Amino acid sequence: MEKLKIGMVGGSRATSYGSVFSNNPKTEVVALCEVDEEKLAENGKSFELPDSALYTSYEDLLNADIDVVVLGTPIPLHADQVVKALEAKKHVLSEVTAADTVENCSKIVDAVRKAKTKYMLAENCVFMDFSLQWKKWIDAGRIGTPFYAEADYVHEIRHLVEDKWRANRAPMHYCSHSLGPLLYWMDDYVVRATASGKHHSLTPETDGNIDVQVALFETAKGATIKVLRSSVALREPGLCTYSIMGDKGFLESGRHGYDNIGLRYFDGLDDKKQETRIAVSASDIEAPPEARLGGHGTSEYYLAQDFLNAIEFDLTPTLDVVRAMDMTVPGLIAHEAAMKGGVWMDVPRITD
Ligand SMILES: NC(=O)c1ccc[n+]([C@@H]2O[C@H](COP(=O)([O-])OP(=O)(O)OC[C@H]3O[C@@H](n4cnc5c(N)ncnc54)[C@H](O)[C@@H]3O)[C@@H](O)[C@H]2O)c1
Repeated sequence: MEKLKIGMVGGSRATSYGSVFSNNPKTEVVALCEVDEEKLAENGKSFELPDSALYTSYEDLLNADIDVVVLGTPIPLHADQVVKALEAKKHVLSEVTAADTVENCSKIVDAVRKAKTKYMLAENCVFMDFSLQWKKWIDAGRIGTPFYAEADYVHEIRHLVEDKWRANRAPMHYCSHSLGPLLYWMDDYVVRATASGKHHSLTPETDGNIDVQVALFETAKGATIKVLRSSVALREPGLCTYSIMGDKGFLESGRHGYDNIGLRYFDGLDDKKQETRIAVSASDIEAPPEARLGGHGTSEYYLAQDFLNAIEFDLTPTLDVVRAMDMTVPGLIAHEAAMKGGVWMDVPRITD
């Protein structure tokens, strides 16, 4: 197979994936689109791209000789850019979340249905080493049937929510790093949501500056999920923690960053009287050094491999449009529920 030609859009997260694709024998990074000319030149230099491969216009990039668009732009731009890329017959790897409104999510779903090329959501937490390991344990029945799961994600980025697009991104709109892995492990989706959280300690009083939101979700299989989110709470280091319980045991990560010590109990395997500690890490220690170039352990490396396999062997990517929407829409609805005072709302499965 000829090398797939990668076009990066957005000189930050797209270039993180660019570093991964530059070191993959099946791909070559051939173009970059970035509206900030300084960033364009800087990133063009580090990827050793000629000036002719640097674009400030997205439409011009889509007319270039590329096979894949790696989308690392602000979330409100995703729907329009994904639709245009699929219409131009490009494969799309899109940063999280899928889109900023349910209506925009539906536009992506329609475009994916018509397209012959692949679309995948780059929810990297799903591909962290511990997540892939937990998925194997859960699928093998080690914790039995999951009935409860929770995830907290507190990442203080006050300087970014002040004036950029994140000013309007409610905490729960950015739910895929938390909800995503839980649904992936449970092989489930959300049917109802409620949430609390509309208070601001900080100004301006935009949705992005809401102190914290906590959502409860009910899933199609009858499980309950709790997610806590904040972009402004001063919890240092950042909080990113996961826990899942089933009728035969549980798995729980520690509360410090992505690399920590967690706990598990597997009925019939572990001693009830003794804590069973597990290493929880974003990185696969056996992976080659280039596997860490994406920024979050080895997650981007394995995610990129999944996406490339889907293209090469015409498979459904692990985070296809169905999972992309399952990991995005509940957060949009939960925020709406919080604004209505914490009512329960049905979550439409827009891919049905
Ligand atoms: N998976 C992760 O761990 C992770 C981490 C951070 C951000 N993200 C996601 O990555 C995406 C980008 O986030 P960010 O923090 O880099 O945001 P950002 O605001 O820094 O924007 C990214 C870049 O896109 C450029 N850009 C804006 N409009 C453009 C256009 N029309 N064409 C080309 N370039 C354009 C900006 O100039 C900027 O350099 C979002 O979807 C965000 O949620 C994911």
